[in-house]
Amino acid sequence: MNTHVPQFALNTGASIPAIGFGTFQIPPEETQRAVETALELGYRHIDTAAAYYNEAGVGAALRASGLKREGVFITTKLRNVDHGRDATRRALENSLKELGLDYVDLYLVHWPVPSRNLYVEAYQAVVDAAGEGLVKSPGVSNFLREHLDRVIEEVGVVPAANQIEMHPGFSQAQLREYSRDKGMVTEAYSPLGQGKDLANPVITEIATRVDATPAQVVLAWHLHHGNVILPKSVTPSRVEENLAAASLSLSAEDIAAIDALSTPEGRVGADPATFEHPLTLDGTWNS
Ligand code: A2P
Repeated sequence: MNTHVPQFALNTGASIPAIGFGTFQIPPEETQRAVETALELGYRHIDTAAAYYNEAGVGAALRASGLKREGVFITTKLRNVDHGRDATRRALENSLKELGLDYVDLYLVHWPVPSRNLYVEAYQAVVDAAGEGLVKSPGVSNFLREHLDRVIEEVGVVPAANQIEMHPGFSQAQLREYSRDKGMVTEAYSPLGQGKDLANPVITEIATRVDATPAQVVLAWHLHHGNVILPKSVTPSRVEENLAAASLSLSAEDIAAIDALSTPEGRVGADPATFEHPLTLDGTWNS
């Protein structure tokens, strides 16, 4: 596998491989095998979260791969129950222990949970941990513009990345443009709309015409817009197919046709304005 995956620059000076392997909903006992496969196929960026309960499998796969630590970009995320200065620090230490690592490349506040109003404190703790080298780049996830504005204003450090739901049916172009202007990279979770966007006739028509799969067309559209993508699949052939999307480029007309598919109702996951599921302790969570 020699697909060349582009790297995007983060505002910390680090660089992030534009295609990462997402591990949401991969059961803990299957995670090591899935991540080992992804690493064998050429992925060098793995995305996990404390709330996925599979960090240990990610760490085990990394060790089993024999790859150098600095050759693989690892992201994990803070659970909603762990917002707060001391709680965030403890949670990070626990994630590092689960992963078996002494630093993560990117640590994200997973959701703002506005009702708790602790996300600024949590992000401050992530920035402090970055100052100590436990985190290379501090970031956030599921932050709307108002949440981004508050952390930038109150903490004074622009997050390196905001990881949000993003796919043709819900492309969040305004938030992406705003983030770019501030110097943040946007990472797309559910980049395929949890598979739903793949049957869209606009996508399938382009795929047939350019001799690619619908997933590759959608992923190439993301890369064109500068989004880091985190497609997930438990099917090795698809894991490989998704990485190969880096070699596909689309015409301006095709990009515009896919841009036109977004609707305000297109969200397939939770709404960050209201999502507060603090009950990650039972291991079930709808990221
Ligand atoms: P599976 O894991 O059974 O291979 P998203 O990343 O947007 O959340 O989408 C994930 C869903 O899309 C999963 O159901 C996954 O199925 C499916 N999927 C991932 N990659 C591909 C692909 N290349 N072609 C078709 N379906 C895919």
